[in-house]
Amino acid sequence: MSEEQNLDLQQEHQKYIEDLSGWVRTHHCCQLTLANDGENVCLMGWVQFRRDHGGLIFVDLRDREGLTQVVFSPDIAPQAHENAHILRSEYVIAVKGKVRPRPEGMRNPNLTTGEIEVVVLEWKLLNTSKTPPFAIEDRCDAGENLRLAWRYLDLRRPYMQANLRLRHSIMQSIRRFLDENAFLEIETPFLTKSTPEGARDFLVPSRLNACQFYALPQSPQLFKQLLMVSGFDRYFQIVRCFRDEDLRADRQPEFTQVDLEMSFADEEQVMQLSEALMANLFKTIMKRELQLPFPRMTWTEAMERFGVDKPDTRFGMELVNITDIVKNSGFKLFAQAKLVKAMKVEGGESLTRKEIEEYTQFVAAYGAKGLAWIKIKADEWQSPIAKFLSEDERRGIVQRLGLQTGDIVFFQAAEPAVVNAALGNLRVHIAREKKLIPENSFNFLWITDFPLFEYSEEEKRYVSCHHPFTSPKEGHLDRMETDPANTFARAYDMVLNGNEVGGGSVRIHTSNVQRKMFKALGFSEEQAEEQFGFFIRALEHGAPPHAGLAFGLDRLVMLLSDSSSIREVIAFPKTQKATCLMTGSPSTVSAKQLRELNLRLREQAGEESKNSGTSA
Ligand code: AMO
Ligand code: AMP
Repeated sequence: MSEEQNLDLQQEHQKYIEDLSGWVRTHHCCQLTLANDGENVCLMGWVQFRRDHGGLIFVDLRDREGLTQVVFSPDIAPQAHENAHILRSEYVIAVKGKVRPRPEGMRNPNLTTGEIEVVVLEWKLLNTSKTPPFAIEDRCDAGENLRLAWRYLDLRRPYMQANLRLRHSIMQSIRRFLDENAFLEIETPFLTKSTPEGARDFLVPSRLNACQFYALPQSPQLFKQLLMVSGFDRYFQIVRCFRDEDLRADRQPEFTQVDLEMSFADEEQVMQLSEALMANLFKTIMKRELQLPFPRMTWTEAMERFGVDKPDTRFGMELVNITDIVKNSGFKLFAQAKLVKAMKVEGGESLTRKEIEEYTQFVAAYGAKGLAWIKIKADEWQSPIAKFLSEDERRGIVQRLGLQTGDIVFFQAAEPAVVNAALGNLRVHIAREKKLIPENSFNFLWITDFPLFEYSEEEKRYVSCHHPFTSPKEGHLDRMETDPANTFARAYDMVLNGNEVGGGSVRIHTSNVQRKMFKALGFSEEQAEEQFGFFIRALEHGAPPHAGLAFGLDRLVMLLSDSSSIREVIAFPKTQKATCLMTGSPSTVSAKQLRELNLRLREQAGEESKNSGTSA
């Protein structure tokens, strides 16, 4: 049937729509079994399939719980059967009928309701449906953009229903746990003050205060600290955060945190509580026991061994520093580089030129100028660079990496940041591609002792690694201004299978140290006062020592549901370009709305933002 004919039919069928008028559902669609044999029931849901068979019409009726087979029989209820010919996929119906066992040979052991069917006595059409743009089932080959444009249909699929259910269960488990541990759930504002640190803010113009703006919170950081000053002792919130960042598979412009803060506590208590929360979550949701405490690794060690601050410890392939071995090498690239690291892939000798070329392009995204490699063959080293290496250098490399025939080694020689990013990310890339990561394992890890600052090339100054409210390590206070590169923080991240799932710190709780921090970040006293005066004032009024952490809820659900992107666990996510394909946001607004907000749009705004470099 053509689409038009289908549409005509659907229009035509609308005249049969009835209202519920007193019909009450007795069961959901994944409930009835042989135990209900002979019962009169009423079910409601969507038509998954209609099959006509030798006079009988079978419909798989679907609701969020599952499927039940309902049968329209000309012998039992002729009118109901006659009317059932109009049924199409995704029509919404209510049926009243009797439960009976399915005939032998028609039972489906894979379905909870697979032993029974409901013989329809009476039914109502509650609504029709146009033919959906893709089938409402798990085997769905629709592209993601189509799924996002028709998200409410996509969400009908059992896979998406399961993801959102899991998300719900995780949220309830966390809420229960935190409640039982004396945390109070307190909401904080969404219309807040724009502050210059961190990611880019989303701004909201104020109508009542012309030419002034609110910012949507990047996190409730300041408010939760203020709640500690207020004496609430233990706070939590499952809260939306907004960041105008470049998006990736694990980032959304609005995402959800499980945000918590504790008074009279330091890193040990926060880490213990977070581990207990995770253990409880895994026990209740995943039916798995986690080994506590989680291993800990300093940031410095993580960078040295894995090249990234969120190492995936489910597999080896660690990075090996060989700078000392090649420091006098005839290979100038190695001899002159600040850092040279190598990474062995066991049995990687079989990698093709094409694969190596693809890896070279992969590392280029991290600033790598190339990717040197050596294949360890039985009788020789096959490599574009082996000829430059002396016997001593070769021996040194073999020993340090434990090389064997059949291995391949990749090298990176450059600035430390480039070497680590390139090889650290290549490590994960190859492991994923070559399926070297054990499935169904959950490796938790704490990363501690982060640097307090990182140098921003863009701003030509030091900025906070976490945020400006993070306390320096004991004894590092005076280094903040004199040696910012070597000042470390009382900050910790929780890492799960190579994903940062949470992060937090012990906070600065005295006004003097907080002032010092703003100074170290390059704020004048006036700027600090203007931006953060209200907060410094609070610290001047008896702020208790406090510490906290926030989990990325979306990332957690993604990992626990084994999804490939956080978009799979968010009901209505944005695309990589931060748009909503369903509602069409962002969108233009009317001249009247702009006038009320005292806003005028600059001509060629796109061009200007490109030129000023703020379009990232
Ligand atoms: P942080 O910025 O590390 O810390 O955020 C905490 C956790 O939130 C998750 N996350 C994200 N998830 C999805 N999309 C994003 N764009 C995104 N950005 C972050 C990560 C991360 O670990 N106020 C501090 C917490 C604290 O110090 O208590 C904060 O926001 O899983
Ligand atoms: P070239 O002498 O530029 O042809 O480089 C020799 C080999 O070293 C090639 O395999 C390059 O991919 C690789 N290479 C180039 N730059 C780097 C670098 N910074 N680190 C590691 N290998 C590199």
